[in-house]
Amino acid sequence: MKSTTRDNFSSKFGVIAAAAGSAVGLGNIWKFPYEAGQNGGGAFLVLYFFFIITIGLPIMISEFVIGRKTNANAVRAFKKITPDKPWYLTGIMGVAASFMILSFYGVVAGWTLEYVYLAITNAFKGQDPAALSEGFNNFISDPVRPLVWQVLFMVLTAIVVIGGIKNGIEKLTKILMPVLLLIIIVMGVRSVTLGANINAAGEVVGHSFDGLKFLFKPDFSKVDIDVVLDALGQAFFSLSLGMGTIITYGSYIRKNNNLNKTAVEVAFLDTLIAVLAGVAIFPAVFYFNVAPTEGPGLVFTVLPGIFQKMIGGYIWTLAFFILLTVAALTSSISLLEVGVAYFAEELKINRVKATIVVTAIITVLGIACSLSNNILKDVKLFGRNIFDNMEFLSSNVMLPLGGMLIAIFAGWYINKTDLYNELSNGNVLKLRFFKMFYFIIRFIAPVAIAIVFLYSVGLLGE
Ligand code: PHE
Repeated sequence: MKSTTRDNFSSKFGVIAAAAGSAVGLGNIWKFPYEAGQNGGGAFLVLYFFFIITIGLPIMISEFVIGRKTNANAVRAFKKITPDKPWYLTGIMGVAASFMILSFYGVVAGWTLEYVYLAITNAFKGQDPAALSEGFNNFISDPVRPLVWQVLFMVLTAIVVIGGIKNGIEKLTKILMPVLLLIIIVMGVRSVTLGANINAAGEVVGHSFDGLKFLFKPDFSKVDIDVVLDALGQAFFSLSLGMGTIITYGSYIRKNNNLNKTAVEVAFLDTLIAVLAGVAIFPAVFYFNVAPTEGPGLVFTVLPGIFQKMIGGYIWTLAFFILLTVAALTSSISLLEVGVAYFAEELKINRVKATIVVTAIITVLGIACSLSNNILKDVKLFGRNIFDNMEFLSSNVMLPLGGMLIAIFAGWYINKTDLYNELSNGNVLKLRFFKMFYFIIRFIAPVAIAIVFLYSVGLLGE
């Protein structure tokens, strides 16, 4: 792909598959369950829904518009619309966020590769959740092994990105996303039907229905400002918003594609998969009597336990971890693409070189994240290790901030008629919700995000 002839998605389904491929990933299956687990379950889910609909969706539409209208990478897009204002800094912050996210994302994706390997060798057989948890902790405490997988995963990501948009990204997502959805549904059914867990002494040690209650019965007494900020950050992270991924993908979308519909479909699918992942995990968490607050190791501890209770468990385990890795890959390529499009087009280096340089930088950052689970464990800033800082700063600070700026930009700096024209494909589509959308991006979204921020740093409230 040269900067003059930009690549395009070939079909409507290709666009949805690629954008959904970016959105659906470790954020849904690894991050959502552990965030919900640590933040009280149902109440977190309600807040998360609320932010997806009122803030996430309008910002996703804005990003699509900015990308397709300008046909440019996440930095140039801002320059094209406001050449004499510093708005392009929003794009630069997005590129920085993509580096930070991919640095820890690659680590977790590396863990999934290890789990593919463990699934192949049938290593989970006969292990109870305590043993599985110990196995996970031993694995991430090893300085070398996770690193090897992380580097391998980054190489895989770079290979797909070098392949270009149509050949690489589109083909992969189109086939594999639907299969992943199917497996999660089957896992959900198994998890919910586990029922009561009765030990040798005849006592009930856990019940799968308690997991459903935990996930769907909101207990708002658990909600404080940190929970709200986490839900907001998770909404941005899961929809790949606030940092230019959707702007960059938008720039590859054809002029006759219905952007509103694409955004609604992607947001719906993404939320559905997060909820289904919750339905697969929490009933099993309560059945096995594992703490829902277990944190980043939650899915790695609980899921292999569910598979052991399934007929053909070996195959399910293997298929699941392979597909989870693929889901991570379709997200990681969208993260890498932000930096690559920027480096290739702005610094005028060829795509292959840009990919190698960006991948190398991110991999080095990622090594620091990975080591923060073992030899760099005590290197802390604001009470968090390197991995947690990358995660917190990117998803809870930079993405919402980027999203707020994008909303303000689309609402106040793109001419209203231009915005309407781009969204309606030159007045071809009827836009029923334009007024509401416009009001949200101009006022509601920026103000809501600002309030959450001010509260969380203690400038508002107690
Ligand atoms: N949305 C992806 C996931 O849920 C992660 C991601 C964040 C991808 C930001 C791109 C941009 O796994």
